[in-house]
Amino acid sequence: MATVTAAFGRLLPSAQTTANLCNCAPFSSPPETNPVDDGVWMQLREEAEMDTGKEPMLRELYTATVLSHCSLEKSLAFILDAKLSSPQLRLKDVFIAAFDADPGIGRSVRKDLAAFLESDPACSRMVHCFLCYKGFLAVQTHRVAHKLWEDGRRTLALFLQSRVSEVFAVDIHPAAVIGSGLVLDHATGVVIGETSVVGDNVSIFHNVTLGGTGKITGDRHPKIGDGVLIGTGTNILGNVRVGRNTMIGAGTIVRKNVPEGITVVGNPARFIVDKKVTDEPNWDR
Ligand SMILES: CC(C)(COP(=O)(O)OP(=O)(O)OC[C@H]1O[C@@H](n2cnc3c(N)ncnc32)[C@H](O)[C@@H]1OP(=O)(O)O)[C@@H](O)C(=O)NCCC(=O)NCCS
Repeated sequence: MATVTAAFGRLLPSAQTTANLCNCAPFSSPPETNPVDDGVWMQLREEAEMDTGKEPMLRELYTATVLSHCSLEKSLAFILDAKLSSPQLRLKDVFIAAFDADPGIGRSVRKDLAAFLESDPACSRMVHCFLCYKGFLAVQTHRVAHKLWEDGRRTLALFLQSRVSEVFAVDIHPAAVIGSGLVLDHATGVVIGETSVVGDNVSIFHNVTLGGTGKITGDRHPKIGDGVLIGTGTNILGNVRVGRNTMIGAGTIVRKNVPEGITVVGNPARFIVDKKVTDEPNWDR
């Protein structure tokens, strides 16, 4: 947690000013959810209160990052701004404008938080993911970068990609299409190329590449189905399809389509059937 305090330190207001602090200017349009009905935001606030009850020295940090804000989106914009802005370019308004313009981003943020809590045994509180998990923060920044990319603000989108790569060691091209409920666990070394598509409820461990083969241009990156798990150190190369609910073991190299609902491991990737590694006759179906 010392690292977290250091990361936010330069933007923390003094204890005196946090007492009555509210960082919330109104949205230009009303937020999609009534805060009272926003269970995820309420849970984040309750968890922040519980943490500060147990560890009072975190009160100032939690107040500045979570408790002084009136919505999840405002809080997240503050956190991402603190992590990614440079003296020449403050990003808070960029994040707020994107969350405001596209409520779908907020829905995906909430699904990502729920997915972390459900699938990561090390994640005991959503608020820890919200503040500290760089895979979560990298994905949320990508969601904003993708919106900028789609809106034609491509240089700013590439700047966000670059800052995320520098700060979190996660490199996702802003054009990549990413679903909801994504868990980037540990996240260091994840690379997702320009024409990649990642479905809903996907888990990706560290040092995973969704890359091109280097031999073709255009639509050249993998398409990952819903519910896929991709183990650490895996490379999925080329415009290949990975079917829904497939598990790809750690250290696998995938160069061909993978059917849905199975497990593959190794280099070249082979199937696990009845707990045995085997070749699969229907590899290309
Ligand atoms: C593939 C995986 C999901 C397990 O699938 P499973 O169906 O339960 O497989 P089992 O553990 O029963 O192993 C079956 C066979 O596959 C082999 N195998 C399992 N994972 C393998 C892998 N990643 N690479 C090569 N072989 C693997 C096992 O050695 C075993 O073969 P054997 O009987 O000849 O010894 C799991 O091993 C894995 O790789 N998960 C990714 C986890 C990860 O990335 N963790 C990072 C945490 S920080």
